[in-house]
Amino acid sequence: MTIPVRSILVTSALPYANGPIHLGHMVEYIQTDIWVRFQRLRGNNCYYVCADDAHGTPIMLRAQAEGLSPEELIARISSEHQADFSEFLISFDQYHSTHSSENKFFAELIYERLTAGGHIEKKTIHQAYDPEKGMFLPDRFIKGECPRCGAADQYGDSCEVCGATYSPAELKNPRSAISGAVPISKDSEHFFFRLTDFEAMLREWIANGHVQEEMGNKLVEWFREGLQSWDISRDAPYWGFEIPDAPGKFFYVWLDAPIGYMASFKKFCERENLDFDHYWKQNSEAELYHFIGKDIAYFHTLFWPAMLDGAGFRKPTSVFCHGFLTVNGQKMSKSRGTFIKARTYLEYLRPEYLRYYFATKLSDRIEDIDLALDDFQARVNSDLVNKYVNIASRCAGFINKRFSGELASDLPDPILRQQFVSAGESIATAYENREFGRAMREIMALADRANQYIDETKPWVLAKQKNNEQLLHGVCSQGIELFRLLTIYLKPVLPQLTAEVEQFLEIPALQWSDLDLPLINHHMSSFKPLMQRIDNTQIDAIIVASQETLTQTQTQTQTQTIATEKKETQEIILPTISIDDFRKIDLRIARIITADFVPDSDKLIKLTLDIGSETRQVFAGIRHVYEPSDLVGRLTLVAVNLAPRKMRFGNSEGMLLGASEKQDEIYLLSPDSGAVPGMRVQ
Ligand code: MSP
Ligand code: ZN
Repeated sequence: MTIPVRSILVTSALPYANGPIHLGHMVEYIQTDIWVRFQRLRGNNCYYVCADDAHGTPIMLRAQAEGLSPEELIARISSEHQADFSEFLISFDQYHSTHSSENKFFAELIYERLTAGGHIEKKTIHQAYDPEKGMFLPDRFIKGECPRCGAADQYGDSCEVCGATYSPAELKNPRSAISGAVPISKDSEHFFFRLTDFEAMLREWIANGHVQEEMGNKLVEWFREGLQSWDISRDAPYWGFEIPDAPGKFFYVWLDAPIGYMASFKKFCERENLDFDHYWKQNSEAELYHFIGKDIAYFHTLFWPAMLDGAGFRKPTSVFCHGFLTVNGQKMSKSRGTFIKARTYLEYLRPEYLRYYFATKLSDRIEDIDLALDDFQARVNSDLVNKYVNIASRCAGFINKRFSGELASDLPDPILRQQFVSAGESIATAYENREFGRAMREIMALADRANQYIDETKPWVLAKQKNNEQLLHGVCSQGIELFRLLTIYLKPVLPQLTAEVEQFLEIPALQWSDLDLPLINHHMSSFKPLMQRIDNTQIDAIIVASQETLTQTQTQTQTQTIATEKKETQEIILPTISIDDFRKIDLRIARIITADFVPDSDKLIKLTLDIGSETRQVFAGIRHVYEPSDLVGRLTLVAVNLAPRKMRFGNSEGMLLGASEKQDEIYLLSPDSGAVPGMRVQ
C-alpha cells in the first residue's frame, strides 16, 4: 500500500525584529520544527517558512534610540535571529523579512482586492498626538496615573499594579512616553477593514474544524461580543509600507505581518522554481498550517482568514495554537534569572536537551507549559542519556571489539523487534496530532523494554563464556537494531544526534520507512559517546548569566523608551497586605549550629538551625558573602512555616531572612541581644 504524498506548507509566527529570541519563543519554533521534520521523515513534501516581522512603531523608535536606520537595525536583528534558530536546529526552508519587495507586492495586492470588494472603509478618529515629537501615539506610548488605583507611570491601555484596563483618555496626567510632552487629541482619517462582512464565512470555517476545540469556544465568545471593523492604517511618521494612493498613510504592521508568510514562500518558490499558486489558490489541495501562540490568536483566526477570503486566496487548513512558557512555575523574570535568551542557553547547553524536554511537555492543547529546571535536568539525563543512548553504549563495544564492527546476520528475538515496529503506528499518530508528550512516553517505554532485554540477556556475562560467541553477537546486534528503531522515532526531536547515529551505524539518512528492514549483515563504526549528562553547574550558570539586577533592568527600560519591555517594575511593587496576612508567616529566631559547603554549588551553604523546639536543615544562597565557618554560632531570623522545598541535595525546611540589592549578595539579618532561639518575631 502506498500512502499518497501530501503537499504541506507550515509557518511559525514571525518574531518581532526589535529584540532577541528567548526560550518562550523557542516553544513555538521547536514545536513547529518537530512537526515539520516528522512530516518530512514520513516522506511528505513539507515546506517550512518564516520571516522577521520588521515593521511598526517600536522598531522605528528603537532604531532612532540606537542611532541606526530601521534598515540597519532589522538587518542586524535578522542575522541574530537566524543564528539562534539555526543553532537550535530549526529547519526553515526560507527565512525572509516583512520589509521585502515580495511582501510589498502581496500587501498591495490584497489591499487592492479588498478595496475593490468594498471591504475597506474610511473613518475619521481622534487620537492622542505628541506635539513635540510630531506623531500619533499608540496606547502603549502614553503613560500616566491609573484611573482606578492611582499608581504612577502606567501604560495607556492597562495598569500593571491593579490590573485595570482602560482607554488612554482615562489616564490621569498623561504624558508621551517618547518625549514627555502632554499629548493632545487630534483628528485623522483611518482605513478600516470590514471584518463583519466575513462573519458568516468565518463562523462556517470555524465550525468545520479548522481550529482547536478550545479556540472554537473562544471564538464563539468573540462573536458574541460582536466583530468590529479593524483599523489597518497609521499616519506618518511610521515604519512600514505606504498605502497606495494615500500619501502619508501606512499599513499597520499587523496588516502586512501575516502576509509575510506568503512573501517568504514566494521568495522560496522563486529560488526553487516551485508553483506558488498551487499552495495559495482558492480551494488548493495543498495543506497550510500556522503555528502560533495564544496571544495572537485573534489575528490568525479572524482577520487573517477574512483577508485571504476577501482577496481570493485559500484559507489555512488549521491554525495550531500553543500556550505560554513559564520557568520554574512562574512567568519568565529578569530579576529571577529566568528570562533566558536563546543565545544564553546555547552558550551552556546542547539545543537537543531543550527540544526533547519541550517535546515531553507539548500537546495539542493551548495550556501553558513549564520549564522546571530541576525536572528538565533530571528528565533529560534519565531519558536520553541513561535510557536511550545507553542502549547503544551497552552493545556497540562488543560488536566493535569481538566482531570487528560486523552486525549479525539474524536477530535472536524477531518478535521483540516486531513489537518495536508495530508501536510506530501509534507514535506516528501522536506526532501527527501534535501529542508530542505522548509520543515521547511511548518511545521511552520502548527504551525501557530494550534495556530490560539487555539486562535479561546479559551480554557482559556471555562475553566471558567460551561457547556463547554467536549468542553474544545476536544479542548485541538485537540491541543495536532496537536502538536504531528508537532513533527513527526520535529523529524529529533530535536531528543532530540522529545524524551522529547515522554516521556511527554507517547508514544513509533514516526515513520512517526504514522501520521495515532490520539492520543485519552490516558494518558499523566504533561507538563514541553520543550525549553527555546535564551538569548542575550548567543550569546554575544559565541562571546567573540571565540575571539582571534591578538597577540594570531599570536603566535598560529607560534608554529603550519603548513599551516592549513590560512588567519590569511589578516585581518589586507588592500589594498592600493585612496584618493577618503578615501573621501567616511564622518567623523565629534561630541559631546556626552547623554550616557546610554544598558540593557542586558555588551559591549555597547547608545549615542546621536550632529553632528552640527542634532543629531544621536549610539551604541558603549566601556563599558569595559568607564562609561557612563564620556562620556557626550566630543568631538569625528564619521563616519556619514555608512548605519544605525539595532540592537536589535534600530538603530545605525554612528560609533565612536576608537583605540584598544584587543577586548573590545577601546579608543575613540578626536580632538584638536578649533574643534566643525559638522566639517568635512579631
Ligand atoms: N510579530 C508577531 C507575530 C506576527 S505573525 C504574523 C509576534 N511576535 S513575537 O516575537 O512577540 O512572538 C512570536 C511568537 O512567539 C508568537 O507566536 C508568540 O505567541 C510566541 N511567544 C512569545 N513569547 C512566548 C512565551 N513566553 N511562550 C510561548 N510562546 C511565546 O507576536
Ligand atoms: Zn491601577
